[in-house]
Amino acid sequence: MNVPLLDLVAQYRAIKDDVLPALQAVIESQHFVMGPSVPQLESAVAQLARARHGIACASGTDALLLPLKALGLEPGDEVITTPFTFFATAGAIHNAGGTPVFVDIEPGTFNIDPAAVEAAVTPRTRAILPVHLYGQMAAIERLIPIARAHGLKIIEDAAQAIGARRRIDGEWRMAGELGWATGYSFFPSKNLGAWGDGGMMVTSDDAAAERLRKLRLHGGAKQYHHDEIGTNSRLDSVQAAVLLAKLPHLASWSSKRREHAASYTKALDGLSPVRTPVVDRCNEPIFHQYTLRVERRDELQAHLKSHSVGNAVYYPVPLHLQNCFRHLGYQRGRLPEAERAATEVISLPIYPELTADQIGFVVETIRGFYR
Ligand SMILES: Cc1ncc(COP(=O)(O)O)c(C=O)c1O
Repeated sequence: MNVPLLDLVAQYRAIKDDVLPALQAVIESQHFVMGPSVPQLESAVAQLARARHGIACASGTDALLLPLKALGLEPGDEVITTPFTFFATAGAIHNAGGTPVFVDIEPGTFNIDPAAVEAAVTPRTRAILPVHLYGQMAAIERLIPIARAHGLKIIEDAAQAIGARRRIDGEWRMAGELGWATGYSFFPSKNLGAWGDGGMMVTSDDAAAERLRKLRLHGGAKQYHHDEIGTNSRLDSVQAAVLLAKLPHLASWSSKRREHAASYTKALDGLSPVRTPVVDRCNEPIFHQYTLRVERRDELQAHLKSHSVGNAVYYPVPLHLQNCFRHLGYQRGRLPEAERAATEVISLPIYPELTADQIGFVVETIRGFYR
């Protein structure tokens, strides 16, 4: 049996009758950039996030970069973030003119540790950038009072967490609802993936929304009049049409992922070299990834590969130890939880179309390795 890490062809087969006519409509209109599908998608994603505004852009990376640019960071200004994330999170801080300050993660959820955030605040701190890793929300309710006390903005990296939610004071709050601004990615492998690159910012701050709309279009609200220097970060109408056609499926895809996660966890619990994902009891995750901590990770990875079981390590090198951030002066041992996670994690196939037989095969292959 072959179990790929992700099977986008299976998804395509299931939805092509929805997507192809939407795509054809864009082609017939020949309105390829920022056509009507873009504002429709912006409203739909803002509604999902319970935010007032959605501002589409060219990628998830830009969906972090533009809110960071809107902060007007000066050299030496700091943004506190997690080292256990995709590179874009910290790359965006640097490219917006700031300095990433990495703090350790909580070992269970792999998300940023709020106590470590509080301890890292300095007079130069301008923002906190939590990542809702693998589709599970960070403890944002513990970051909000820190941000308030020090006058900081919270920018949520929800690239992996569209539709994830967290129960706070008895109420469900969406990823993207409580931060000052939030970035989503529509990279094809994401839970809501385009057929190319794409991203979305959401915010409930009217002034910020206006600013972000300008920044994605060379800094001008009116054509050929530029109030500031922005960039070209528009979303194609084709991508927006694809995403709009897929969006109605997102909730059922996410619940399929949760079902698959429950199957894996039931089947793997009790296998001592393996620790199944910890879901914070306040969270309803979307399982962008299903990530184990395991013993002899690299050997297991080779074993899975030799049995045609797709898998991946997100992420093998924490960002504070990346060559490009050497100048920041972090040494190995400084952020031990992130460093340990980088040596122990392995993600399994979790896409919605996965069958029970495939899950059974993945589990048996893992059990076979440790037998
Ligand atoms: C946590 C995180 N942040 C940011 C990004 C950047 O998104 P994109 O690849 O759409 O630029 C990604 C996606 O790859 C991601 O996983």
